[in-house]
Amino acid sequence: MRTIILTLCICFVRLSVSAQTLNSPDGNLNLVFNIDQQGIPTYKLNYKGKEVIKPSKLGFEIILSKLGVIDLTKGFTIVNTTYSSEDTIWEPVWGEQKEIRNNYKEILIELANDGRLMNIRFRLFNDGLGFRYEFNKQEKLYDFIVKEEITEFNLAGDHKAFWIPGDYETNEYVYMTTKVSEIATNREKAIKRIKTQWPIENTAVQTPFMMKSDDGLYINIHEAALVDYPAMHLNVDVDNLKLSSHLVPDTWGGRGDVSTPGKTPWRTIIVSDDARNILASKLILNLNDPCTFKDVSWIKPTKYIGVWWEMFVGKGTWNYTDDSHIKLGKTDFTKAKPNGTHSANTENVKRYIDFASKHGFDQVLVEGWNIGWENWGGKVRANFFDFVTPYPDFDVKELQHYAANKGVKIMMHHETGASVANYERKLYDAFQFMTDNGYNAVKTGYVGWIKPKGEHHDGQWMVNHYIHVANTAAKYKIMVNSHEAVRPTGLHRTYPNWLAQESARGTEFEAMVGMPPEHTTILPFTRLMGGPMDYTPGILQTIFSYYNPKKTKQAGTTLVKQLAYYVTIYSPLQMAADLPETYDRFADAFQFIKDVAVDWDDTYILEAEPGDYITIARKAKNKNEWFIGAITDENARTANIKFGYLPAEKQYIATIYEDSKTAHWQTNPMSYNIRKVVITNKSELKQYLAPGGGVAISLKAASNKSETKGLKKL
Ligand code: NOJ
Ligand code: CA
Repeated sequence: MRTIILTLCICFVRLSVSAQTLNSPDGNLNLVFNIDQQGIPTYKLNYKGKEVIKPSKLGFEIILSKLGVIDLTKGFTIVNTTYSSEDTIWEPVWGEQKEIRNNYKEILIELANDGRLMNIRFRLFNDGLGFRYEFNKQEKLYDFIVKEEITEFNLAGDHKAFWIPGDYETNEYVYMTTKVSEIATNREKAIKRIKTQWPIENTAVQTPFMMKSDDGLYINIHEAALVDYPAMHLNVDVDNLKLSSHLVPDTWGGRGDVSTPGKTPWRTIIVSDDARNILASKLILNLNDPCTFKDVSWIKPTKYIGVWWEMFVGKGTWNYTDDSHIKLGKTDFTKAKPNGTHSANTENVKRYIDFASKHGFDQVLVEGWNIGWENWGGKVRANFFDFVTPYPDFDVKELQHYAANKGVKIMMHHETGASVANYERKLYDAFQFMTDNGYNAVKTGYVGWIKPKGEHHDGQWMVNHYIHVANTAAKYKIMVNSHEAVRPTGLHRTYPNWLAQESARGTEFEAMVGMPPEHTTILPFTRLMGGPMDYTPGILQTIFSYYNPKKTKQAGTTLVKQLAYYVTIYSPLQMAADLPETYDRFADAFQFIKDVAVDWDDTYILEAEPGDYITIARKAKNKNEWFIGAITDENARTANIKFGYLPAEKQYIATIYEDSKTAHWQTNPMSYNIRKVVITNKSELKQYLAPGGGVAISLKAASNKSETKGLKKL
């Protein structure tokens, strides 16, 4: 870590009523912490003189063994106040940029309440605020249960909000865009927009919660470093425009077990008057702990294909059996006949390996390779996945040998069916099996109701589970991609082998129920604020009846927009999700997917408005190559693309993959055009994006005159 400046100043104050203030390094953000006559702690936040958060309460109701409920919302006095600051630069193992600046001013407020101590640490960055509660080891606060965390976010207006319901099990929703005051009345509508309907007992919304004020402030509320604590949803008081923390309960109804010393995750409020700064923010990463792995050389950004989409478009199955054993009342699947549609068979997997090898992909994901799928599904969702026993037609050793010879790896798949107790019992055997057979990456999945019964996907027990898997995987030098896990909070800084997560509605929904074109213009402002997403883009055959007449859906995008996703949806793990035969049919467009990088020196957010459009340029890691992606919602748009970030006085060849003039996500999605032009850092491109469309551009430095001959100069 390169340290520019680190300062610390401790001020000892013993005050009962007092206000403490803190300004961000650039002075734009202003925080005031206050304790009133009743000892109630509050904070407020301003940006360039505008109110972002009005005075809002901080504190807890806790339960102590034998003593019952203790009120930690009032009766506090300040014991100490410590000011400090940091301005350092660190390098992530992989990321959107090579170097990240961590620049903040901090105030640590030590409070006492009837002999019980609680600290609140505020960190004010130029792009927002992070704060958390800390509990030192102490006699009167040893182990406790959180009954309620009383953290409020009192809004300064009835902002436009991008939200999904406060479901404890899933975040795979379509986003709603309403005023904050309209959230309650739109709750039922929001829930109906998901096909897999889960009962939701609360009226909260999930974070990252994105808002825009009438006077143009963009405000994002989330959390950082969610460790050993439940995820925070937000209660919405629509009458008073007040949000408050809603922790996901455990099976006993408690909202977090804390032992001292202990701390909560950081509560984050990212603010700007320019939407681009929300996407560029590294605040959440900065609030996570640095990685402590001694060796990270085995962690590699990865581009992969998979035996996957063919199941979604109805060309194959995960299950190997025809279920005749079930009809006979037998549970032993070996008595069953093969169904003849099992995708993960040796021959088919070899076809994918050949394709990956030919086109330079690192890995081939294979789903449905192991026993358990034949017993999974229906109401009971019993499952016996053991993660080490392949179906009879999947030859582990032969395939590993075949893949290794072709310079490709097979990616492991662990669908747990949310039977997590089962997975934890078998985890070490499963990872040992991977190590013994040459696998170094696993996609995990948690579809269904969590076992142990009563626990939730977003509760403390599961939060600890996901981290346990990432941490254990690191010991085996295994990279992890988790699906259906709690949404990320920047923990990939600490565990860089946890390459990506799904944790939002991804491509699979295109085949199941379809997706509105605006979805991916909202995701970067919401789900992606916490970390990379395994969105699984690259669907070039966007009308699915092509494969199977029963599949009536089509993607909510043009073909070109699918290419743009490789730039606009950040992930160091990117899938080319469509079928090899489809990529052969669209070989010229597929070239962009082959070329695009998955790790970056730098990122430039060129245009952004949540729900409407996003344009991003990125420079490939250690290469003189740039990639640009622009997307729009259901409306056609002209993107204004600038190139000022390119080194001066050089010529670049831009290959532009664009929607045709008649393209439209619904009526003419696969109509595209590819052209090459010469550009410099002074060029400007006004680029047409079709309704539900986009543009993808690759830029390479021209090495000699002959390369640019005959090409139009922009
Ligand atoms: C849901 C995951 O998101 C998807 O990618 C996977 O194929 C299925 N579960 C089966 O595990
Ligand atoms: Ca999923």
